[in-house]
Amino acid sequence: MYLCSIETSCDETSLAIFKSRKLIYHQTYSQVSFHKKYHGVVPEIASRLHSEKISSLIKDANIKKLEYVSFTRGPGLKGSLLVGKIAALTIAKYFNAKVIGINHLEGHLFACDIVNEQIKDILRFPLLGLIVSGGHTELWYCKDYGKYKRIGSTRDDACGEAFDKVARMLTLEYPGGPQIEKYALKAKKFNINFTVPDVENSYDYSFSGIKTQVMYYLRNSKKITEEIKCEVAFGFQKAVCESLVRKLKKAQKDFNVKNIAVCGGVSANNYLRELVMKELSDCKIYFPDKKYTSDNAAMIGVVAFRKIQKGRFRNSIEINDSLKIGDWT
Ligand code: KG4
Ligand code: ZN
Repeated sequence: MYLCSIETSCDETSLAIFKSRKLIYHQTYSQVSFHKKYHGVVPEIASRLHSEKISSLIKDANIKKLEYVSFTRGPGLKGSLLVGKIAALTIAKYFNAKVIGINHLEGHLFACDIVNEQIKDILRFPLLGLIVSGGHTELWYCKDYGKYKRIGSTRDDACGEAFDKVARMLTLEYPGGPQIEKYALKAKKFNINFTVPDVENSYDYSFSGIKTQVMYYLRNSKKITEEIKCEVAFGFQKAVCESLVRKLKKAQKDFNVKNIAVCGGVSANNYLRELVMKELSDCKIYFPDKKYTSDNAAMIGVVAFRKIQKGRFRNSIEINDSLKIGDWT
């Protein structure tokens, strides 16, 4: 069985080919260098670059045979999603293949199942899935593949978005997450204690308050030296990660779940990984391989693979920029 998957929801144009469980082709073209000067993704530039790049990826993959084509149908940038959909429909028509629409966030979660370029049955259920990316921060209770309930989400900024915005305040380049992590590692003093964001009596998150705390801290600093940047980066990273883990621990206790997956762009952060492992040491913790934490087509292919396995691929292929999580039906 040959399966193609396409990811174009934000600023990465990515295409993967699976031969059954084996990932035989995977290329991701990052647009970051084009968006950097705007400190964020410019939707019009993103969709133009996707349409410029996708055909060369299709050509490069040298596809000879295909039974299924999957693509990200949401959530994401409308114009960018549309490029992926048109590419998927075109390839499917050419190869007379079936088309499968995929939720981007499920892709992030299932990225944990890719090991050594193979789809493995790694995840165990019931599972708590924490998805921390540039556009989303969601906590899911998962009974099985395709059976989910969202139990928490951010009330304002996404976690990665907060990293990006704080990095900008520190005049660090976009994307800010890796820069904050790098600066935090260089910190020599650890005296800045930002309040850990906490939405009481819920599994929800909030990151706008800590952004304001950082802004006032910098405003009140006489001179923002490299040393201060490192200290602020450390204090911010610590407070955000503690907030993520606090809700994870609460949900783990309340739902009595022993399997936890942390995924999405921010899950590349080592401080977060270590804190999760330390604070939830009695659970089985899953992280995606670092090369699959940010947006990529392989993770989309894994969800498609599971849908094919369960015979549940006749879902909608309409693009939906604010697609919410729902069970496969
Ligand atoms: O999942 P992703 O690639 O794209 C979306 O679906 O949004 O996530 C991108 C986000 C960006 O905000 C980026 O700053 C953040 O992930 N990120 C990190 C790290 N690497 C990427 N945040 C914290 N620490 C990192 N090492
Ligand atoms: Zn993503």
